[in-house]
Amino acid sequence: MGSHVISISDVYGGTHRDFTKVANTHGVESHSPLYGPLYLISSLYDLETTIRPGKTRLVWVGTPSNPTLGLVDLQRAASIAHSHGVSLVVDNTFCSPYIQNPRLHGADIVVHSVTKYINGHSDVIMGVAAFNSEEWRERLTFLQNAIGAVPSAFDCWLAHRGLKTLHLRSEAATKNATALALALEASANVIAVRYPGIESHPQRHIAIQQHRNGMGGGMLSFRLMGGREAAYAFCKHTKIFTLAESLGGIESLCEVPAGMTHAGIPKEEREKAGVYDDLIRLSCGIEDGQDLICRCSASH
Ligand SMILES: Cc1ncc(COP(=O)(O)O)c(C=O)c1O
Repeated sequence: MGSHVISISDVYGGTHRDFTKVANTHGVESHSPLYGPLYLISSLYDLETTIRPGKTRLVWVGTPSNPTLGLVDLQRAASIAHSHGVSLVVDNTFCSPYIQNPRLHGADIVVHSVTKYINGHSDVIMGVAAFNSEEWRERLTFLQNAIGAVPSAFDCWLAHRGLKTLHLRSEAATKNATALALALEASANVIAVRYPGIESHPQRHIAIQQHRNGMGGGMLSFRLMGGREAAYAFCKHTKIFTLAESLGGIESLCEVPAGMTHAGIPKEEREKAGVYDDLIRLSCGIEDGQDLICRCSASH
C-alpha cells in the first residue's frame, strides 16, 4: 500500500490509464491531483529528486516513447533507480527485441505488447514481461494465474509464427520509416518530424548507443500545419495508410494521438509532453517505400 510509481511524461495512454484509474484503487499512492498516482517526469534530470526513499517502487519508461519518439538513456535510468533500490521497467514495444534489448542496459523487467511487432500481423492481442529474477517470476506468475491473463494456444501459435519474420519486418519497416521521415522533413507543410533513425532527432546519440545498428524502427510522428483538422484530413485521405490505433503490423497505419490513443490524458498534461492536436503518428509497414512516400506527399 502507498507505493509510488514514476514514469516519463508521454507514457503510452493505456499505461497512464492503468496507473491513474486502476492501480490507484489497489493502493498505488496518488502523488498529485493532476497526475494521479503516476508521477510524470520530462527528463532523467528530474528522476533523482522525484524518487521517494522507501516509497517509490518502480520507474516505468517507454523508449522510444509513444507517440513523440523520445528516447531514454537506459543505463543512466537504471543506475539512478538502482542506487535507490528501485526497479526499472522498460516498455520496449516500439523497438521490439530485434532492435533493442533493455536488459543489456540495466532494465529489471522488459514489457512488450506482442500484439505489435512480435506478432506483426495484427491478428493477436498479447503481452510479455521478460526478466531474470526468481523473485519477479514468483510474484508475476502468481498474479498471472490469479488474474487469469493467459493467452490461448491458437494465439500463441500465431505469435510464434510471426516471431520468425521479426528481423525481416523490422528491417523493412525501418527502411520505410527512414525514407518517409526524410521526405516529411523536406516538406514545407510539416512543422517537425520525430524519428530516432535520422540525424535531426535530438537524442540520436542514444539510438546509436542502444539500438541495433542505430536503427530507428517503424514508428514516427510529425506535426502538420493547419492544426487538428489538417491532421485528420491527412489521415482520412492518405491511401495505403489505414486510419487506426494499433501499430507494428505489416500494413502501414496512421492516427492522431490527441483524439485517439492519448485522448484520455488531460490536454494540459498531453501538450506538456508534446502531444499536440496536430501531431500525426505513423506506423510504417513493409509495403513499397516509394508508394508510401507518394501517398503521404499527395495528402498534405
Ligand atoms: C508502447 C505500447 N505499449 C503497450 C501497448 C499495449 O498494447 P496491447 O494491449 O494492445 O497489446 C501499446 C498499444 O498501443 C503501446 O503502444
